[in-house]
Amino acid sequence: MKIAFVGKGGSGKTTLSALFVRHLVDQRLPTLALDADINQHLATALGATDEQAARLPTLSAHLPLIKNYLRGDNPRIPTPDAMIKTTPPGSGSRLLRVVEDNPIYTACVREIDGARLAVTGAFTEDDLGVACYHAKVGAVELLLNHLLDGPGEYVVVDMTAGADSFASGIFTRFDLTALVCEPTLRSVAVYRQYRRYAQDFGIRIAVIGNKVCDDDDLAFLREQVGADLLCWIGRSEHVRASERGQTRPITDLETDNRTALTTIQSTLDSIERDWVGYQRHAVRLHLRNVAAWAGQRSDHDLAAQVDPDFIPGAVRSTRGAVLDTDRLVGVADAVADQP
Ligand SMILES: Nc1ncnc2c1ncn2[C@@H]1O[C@H](COP(=O)(O)OP(=O)(O)OP(=O)(O)O)[C@@H](O)[C@H]1O
Ligand SMILES: [Mg+2]
Repeated sequence: MKIAFVGKGGSGKTTLSALFVRHLVDQRLPTLALDADINQHLATALGATDEQAARLPTLSAHLPLIKNYLRGDNPRIPTPDAMIKTTPPGSGSRLLRVVEDNPIYTACVREIDGARLAVTGAFTEDDLGVACYHAKVGAVELLLNHLLDGPGEYVVVDMTAGADSFASGIFTRFDLTALVCEPTLRSVAVYRQYRRYAQDFGIRIAVIGNKVCDDDDLAFLREQVGADLLCWIGRSEHVRASERGQTRPITDLETDNRTALTTIQSTLDSIERDWVGYQRHAVRLHLRNVAAWAGQRSDHDLAAQVDPDFIPGAVRSTRGAVLDTDRLVGVADAVADQP
């Protein structure tokens, strides 16, 4: 199951992603953490030193390998360069389990204090002016679309701040979007913005209150976000200690905060993935991108990459077009993605 942590800058996305990952790892559950923020902090939040974090391999640097591996022998994708970030899997594509041996994980996943992590890669000088957030996280988008995660397996993604995370199609890829919200008007404003998108695209969001100090903070959040408030985390001495470089065991986290992590996990566990809807969304985004920008830039027929009979996670692959691509091409309400 896939969960993203989103919210206002500084609200605690990275902190809560790391706590949640460590909570899962402590239970020895199959878990993959992905840092999809271009300001990469998840590694250090998981306990890496700055030097270790700086030496991590990046997904964006391994994009050719990722594309080549994922396309497998899918005849609709003749070469790696025919693959764009939204190219959906089809018959012959390689789908990844959360834990397995494959060249992508070998190249890009590293263990930090027991947690398996892959990072997008920070923006470099070379990126300025030529790349943007959306291009940089293309590798994450491809991975998410090719991951065959089942119940009891977790993919935890630390997203970039604020509205940027819903400027790319990535935000539709999660079973649960955990919106980290401090008890402040500015944090609530980001929640409202996100909620509108969530409604438009049928995305399940849950607000996780963070840095909740007292009853007034809690009352404020309840009043502002109502039933979307799933649980909350207080100002944590455990987190503050990690800011001082002392990474304490997750079992030492304050009881109430630990309970909040359990609530997030049980909410995620209660969701049943609709693979048909999931693939349909991926296809819709892809065709939208092809029409908007990618089609003119490629020598390949990118729309033909859609395999209408293919549903990841489904044993069946019946003829009779599970995905009606003609209709999907015309869907006007799709997200306006960017290259
Ligand atoms: N529950 C908490 N208790 C104490 N400190 C916290 C808590 N949550 C977050 N912090 C602190 O708040 C600061 C911002 O947290 P964090 O880096 O996780 O936010 P973010 O949303 O990921 O920020 P960015 O938008 O820059 O990625 C950090 O110094 C972190 O230690
Ligand atoms: Mg962060």
